[in-house]
Amino acid sequence: MQDYLQFDNITKVFGPVNVVSRTSLAIERTQFVVFLGPSGCGKTTLMRMAGGLDTPTEGCVRLDREIIDKPDRRRGMVFQSYSSFPWLTVEGNIEFGMRYRTDLTKEEKTARTRHYLRLVGLEDFAGAYPNRISGGMRQRVAIARSLAAGSDVLLMDEPFGALDALTRERLQVELRRIHSREKKTIIFVTHDVEEAVFLADRIIVFSRRPARVVADIDVAARLGTDRTLESRELPEFFALRNHVLHLIRNETGDMM
Ligand SMILES: Nc1ncnc2c1ncn2[C@@H]1O[C@H](COP(=O)(O)OP(=O)(O)OP(=O)(O)O)[C@@H](O)[C@H]1O
Ligand SMILES: [Mg+2]
Repeated sequence: MQDYLQFDNITKVFGPVNVVSRTSLAIERTQFVVFLGPSGCGKTTLMRMAGGLDTPTEGCVRLDREIIDKPDRRRGMVFQSYSSFPWLTVEGNIEFGMRYRTDLTKEEKTARTRHYLRLVGLEDFAGAYPNRISGGMRQRVAIARSLAAGSDVLLMDEPFGALDALTRERLQVELRRIHSREKKTIIFVTHDVEEAVFLADRIIVFSRRPARVVADIDVAARLGTDRTLESRELPEFFALRNHVLHLIRNETGDMM
């Protein structure tokens, strides 16, 4: 398969600090990739460069062979902190993601908003304001907004970090479902090894700063691509989880 999102020999320096050092990574279209690595190793920095929010000191990031040098609606970012607008309803927040879509009519925007509201299970909360819904729901709003905007690539930086365990588990299943239905390319950062194994087609483990790829694990080959809550009970799931935990302990110490 052809490489779609490419980190090409990336170096990133902030003053005296070398955050990323000659890192290369190629991601296939529709692949669900999870980044794992110690705190401060440069994961967010890599994501910001993929989002066009920051530029590499050397090397480049390409999407479909085109160099990324600015934000673009094809790449949506969902971060840990909720980024919904309090003065807009849930519906309004999702529609806001399409504000630059001059190619869509008002009716098409409304239809898309409804489609994504349903997809993330918020159709009953369309008229609610963000401060009246739970954190998990706000996170779903952010995901729906990204999808409605038409992003082909979702860059998710610890998006479930602040959620309680049950909500988190439910959103993991939903995200996997959205991924398979919508054929998106996803990069997802987490510190949670089980979350990583459950979600990923592929896990990239980074070293301590400067970020270097220490392992590239094909999870899809071992767990398949159909994930349900029961996937977590498979012996293969435990085996992978232990394998990844081991790698992280060995390669990065216990700085997670
Ligand atoms: N704008 C900036 N200016 C200076 N230093 C920065 C800047 N952004 C990031 N850094 C430094 O780069 C390093 C990597 O940061 P980054 O946020 O990418 O790590 P991370 O892997 O996302 O960590 P975490 O897991 O804690 O989120 C850190 O040492 C950080 O202090
Ligand atoms: Mg980070």
